[in-house]
Formats: sequence, structure tokens, C-alpha cells
Amino acid sequence: MTIKRIVFATGNAGKIKEIQAILADLGLEVLSMKDAGVSADIEEDGSTYEENALIKSRAVAACLGERGQQEGTVVMADDSGLEIDFLNREPGVHSARYMGEDTSYRIKNANLIERLEGVEDERRGARFVCAIAVVLPDGRELTSRGVIEGRIGYEEKGENGFGYDPIFYVPEFGRTTAELTEEEKNRVSHRGNALRLMKEQLKEINGSKSRPL
Ligand code: IMP
Repeated sequence: MTIKRIVFATGNAGKIKEIQAILADLGLEVLSMKDAGVSADIEEDGSTYEENALIKSRAVAACLGERGQQEGTVVMADDSGLEIDFLNREPGVHSARYMGEDTSYRIKNANLIERLEGVEDERRGARFVCAIAVVLPDGRELTSRGVIEGRIGYEEKGENGFGYDPIFYVPEFGRTTAELTEEEKNRVSHRGNALRLMKEQLKEINGSKSRPL
């Protein structure tokens, strides 16, 4: 079985660019759902990042399968979130839906800073977590997880990135992830780390003689 392409189950063009850069050395075509002509309304109702990523990749694999287009195609999806220690790891898997899907991140970020009012540095620990799930053309499933550790800041800082980036301070850089360049963020981010681990799993499967991709 020869793998020709990866379809990434997201409608987010920014994510596709990031993923294409990180997976470039696999030498495979990386397409968004839109590029692959797939649209699916997927309910992410799993209780872990891995479950949600699997729900998405299975749904897209099923769509492609129905159309006889799954041959040579790896379907990949991610799910991510922000865990704040002081808030018992909230908003976690509910990060996108926290305070409502359509609420602006200005408001969500201001709310989280307010909930941490008076909390000292050492107890402001937080992490972004990302799970990547893959469905192979023969139905095998793989997952990987990546993390970036940081702290919740005292105010929003930076214009890059998206979501909770302006309040996520990375001690190693002395900046928030919204103040990092795209390349700096990819090198250390939860998504970058999870993708690199998945890339190793894919390379290993591809290199194995008994059950190649
Ligand atoms: P999803 O994995 O696309 O469902 O994203 C979950 C949510 O987690 C996003 O909508 C953001 O709120 C948050 N999130 C995940 N990764 C990041 C990041 O790199 N920066 C900022 N927020 C993030």
C-alpha cells in the first residue's frame, strides 16, 4: 500500500500551513478537508483530546471511504486545549466552547485573568495540550500527544497566534505565545510536538517490512 496524501480534518487554513511545514519532510501531499472536497459536521463530544481527535479523523475517513477515495490516504485530526492548574485544569477539552463558541477571546482571556486575580506566579501554571489522531487506509488508528508548559500572565500581550495565546506566558522565552514568531511557536508548541511524534510513528510504519503503510 502506498501512501500518497494526508487529509487533515480541519477547516482552519492557518493550521494547514503549520502542519504542512512540520510534515514537509514526509514528502506527502497535505490537504485540508476543503481541498479534499469533504465537508462533515462533526460533534466533538469525547471526554479526552485523543477521543475528539479520533472522532474527527474517523468521520472524515468514513466520508472518503464512502466515495472510494480512501486509498493511499492517511486521515489526520487534532484536538487541543488550555489547562490551568489553579482552575482544576479548566477549560481543558472545552477550551473552544468556554463561555460560548462565539464569545471573543478578548472576553474569554479577560475572564480567565480575572479568575486568577491575586494568585501568585507559582500557582499560575498552565499548559497547552494537543492530541493528534490518524486513521490509516487499512483502518489502523494511531494517536500522539504534545504539551507546552507555561503560566497565565497578568494581562494580554502580543498580536500573533490565536485564542488564548496572548495570556499564555512561556518562561523559556520570557514572552507569551502571541509574542512568538510562527517559527518559534512551531518549534516548541503542543501541536508541533504532537505532530513530530506522529511523524515518527508514520515513518516507523512506512519503514517496517511486515505491515507497511
Ligand atoms: P481545537 O483543537 O481546534 O478544537 O481548539 C481548541 C481550543 O483550544 C482553541 O479554540 C483555542 O481556544 C485553544 N487553543 C488550542 N491551541 C491553542 C494555541 O496554540 N493557542 C491558543 N489557543 C489554543
